[in-house]
Formats: sequence, C-alpha cells, structure tokens
Amino acid sequence: MNIKLASRVAQLPPYLFAEIDRAKTAARERGIDIIDLGIGDPDMPTFDNIVRKLQEVAPNPVYHRYPSYQGLKVFREAVANWYDRRFGVKVDPATEVVSLIGSKEGIAHISLAFIDPGDISLVPDPGYPVYNIGTLFAGGRSYFMPLKEENGFLPDLDAIPEDVRQKAKIIFINYPNNPTAACADRAFYERIVSFAKKYNIIVCHDAAYSEVYFGDKRPMSFLEVPGAKEVGIEFHSLSKTYNMTGWRIGWAVGNPEVIAGLGKIKTNVDSGLFEAIQIAGIEALEGDQGPQEELRAIYQKRRDVLVKGLSDAGFKVRSPEATLYVWFPVPSGMTSAHFCKTLLDKAGVVATPGNGFGPAGEGYARLTLCLPEERLKEAVERIKKAGVI
Ligand code: MLT
Repeated sequence: MNIKLASRVAQLPPYLFAEIDRAKTAARERGIDIIDLGIGDPDMPTFDNIVRKLQEVAPNPVYHRYPSYQGLKVFREAVANWYDRRFGVKVDPATEVVSLIGSKEGIAHISLAFIDPGDISLVPDPGYPVYNIGTLFAGGRSYFMPLKEENGFLPDLDAIPEDVRQKAKIIFINYPNNPTAACADRAFYERIVSFAKKYNIIVCHDAAYSEVYFGDKRPMSFLEVPGAKEVGIEFHSLSKTYNMTGWRIGWAVGNPEVIAGLGKIKTNVDSGLFEAIQIAGIEALEGDQGPQEELRAIYQKRRDVLVKGLSDAGFKVRSPEATLYVWFPVPSGMTSAHFCKTLLDKAGVVATPGNGFGPAGEGYARLTLCLPEERLKEAVERIKKAGVI
C-alpha cells in the first residue's frame, strides 16, 4: 500500500518542541545530564486546592458523560467573573465565552472558522508556531510580521503592504510575548483595534502569560481597550498561571460571532472538556490566589539568577518583565541552531533556537525559568565552562 501524507501535512517542518525532544533524548542516550530549559512547562505541581477539588468531583458520575460543547455554564460564568475582577472587562458567559482543551487547541482551530483558501493571517515572527500552522491547515497563507528589538518586539503595522491588509482576515498577537518576553501597552492595543476595524480583520490575542509578571505592572487584556470586543477575541489558559499544562484547560472570550464560529468548528471536531476538570478550573479562578503570588516570586528570583548569570558570562540579556522566558542574542558569528546545538553538546543545556519561532528569531535563543535556582546556576556555570562566548 502506498500511504501518502496530505500535502498540508507533508509540507510542515517538524513541530519545534517535538524536534527539541528528539535532540534531548539523543543527548540523554549519550549519557549527558541534561538541564532542560527548552519548553515553557512549569516544573512545580498544580496548587493543592485545585488537585483536591478534582479528587473530590472526579468520582461523580454526573461528569462522566459527554461534556457540554461550549463548556459548563458555571465554568463560563467563573471565567466571565475573573475577567471582570482582573481586567474590569465584562463578557457575557452565554455567548462570549467558550471553553477550550487548552488555548493551543483554540488557536489551532480558529483559522478553520474564518480562513478560506488563499486568505491571509498576519502572524508574529518570531511567534508561537501554532498561529502559522493553524492558518496553513485552513489553506491560508501567513504574512509574517517581524518583531524587532528596536520596536520593542511589537509588529510594525505601517510596514504591512496595503494589498496584504486588504486580504488579511485574522491578526494574531501575543503579549506578554512568547518567545521575546516583551509586553504591550494600551497605545499598542488601541492601534491594533483601529487597524482591525479599518481593514475588517479579526484580532486573536493570545494572553496565556498575562499572570506570569514580575513587579507591580500587571499586563492588561486587549479587551480593556474600547472597541476591542467588536473586532476580536482573547485566548487564555490555566496552564502557566496555576501549573496546569497537563490538564488541558483554557478558553476564548470576546466577540460573540467569532466565539460562535470557533464553537461551530469545535462541535464538529471535539466533544468538549472533561467537566470535572472544569470544576477544578473554577476552583483555580475563584479559590485562594496566594500560591500564585508565591509562584511569581519564585519565577522572579529565577529570572534574576539567570539574567545575572548570563550577563556575567558576557551575554547581552534584557531582564523580562513577564513570561517564563529569557530571550537573548546568540554570540556573534553563530546561528541560533549552531549555538543551541553547541550548548546541548558541550554544556548539556537545552535552549530553544530563536529561528524555530520564525526567521526573524534567527540570531536569538530562548531559555525558560522552569527549573529551580540551583539548576539555573549550574546551567550558567556549564555555559561559561563550555566557552561558547
Ligand atoms: C513554549 O515553550 O513555547 C510553550 O510552552 C509551548 C506551549 O505552550 O505549547
């Protein structure tokens, strides 16, 4: 039998983090003690109150049948209340909230709802690979918006050619940003809203890192800006905020027509999110938020250790105000891939090459804050010894 992949799949590069997993496994098999700062996967456990809530409700057979497609009403209400408390944003739980099997799932599916073959999505470069991949799966094309350091890693909307603006259906944005760790201000979101209105483009803001911030400046929601709900939606997730990457729980909120379009795709491809997990998700949003403060303090200390260590080692590193990532230029004369391979081979440290997030990421590498301080110190020592700089 001749089994042939569909061209939409055959054309894909290997998924970035699957490729890094492969390199890691190979290095481990060579006996290297790996310090894995590759993926943004929190190393600490889900908060106790959330785990206990799942233990309490999981045995209840009421949750063992197919979940609601949209998400439990009480879960959608908890999301709406959280948006109000945290951002002062009002959303209607009946029509403006949909539960997701993690925000990645919604990001991957949104293009199927709104992109026809030949349509364009405006995609940040570097950026989370799924914005582009979802667009390709829908038969669309990505127009990559370079995020340049001199622009604070914000896209330059004026640089997008007129014919591209006319054809674009979706613009993906993501702040606090993965991988650059940049934050956006109100003025940026205001520009996005007026740009989207003028060209009739749906804004999809990925806000997965809004709660991983350091200091007093809390990142804002794009939906705080007047007119935002007319033009778009925001994706969110419990993954990074409550150490819940394995649970696969997230949501999208915002424009009811966009939410309905995404919901229509989902009713046809999945059957919702285990309701016991949604109940635990309510506990996350409404229970004790103290552990979140502690988590931010831990990441902040880790950030300081890593940034100082890398700076002392001679790297030009900016201290991030949010996210789980430190994004920095690789030594001159090296490509991102060469640098990360050298780091793995000579130091046993897994870093993500910037070009894995798109061509404009070339010349950068990303390290995560997802290991304890001691391990980060060791990583820095090994990097120093490896003599890569
Ligand atoms: C990352 O490391 O970029 C993210 O953790 C990947 C993800 O959230 O899926």
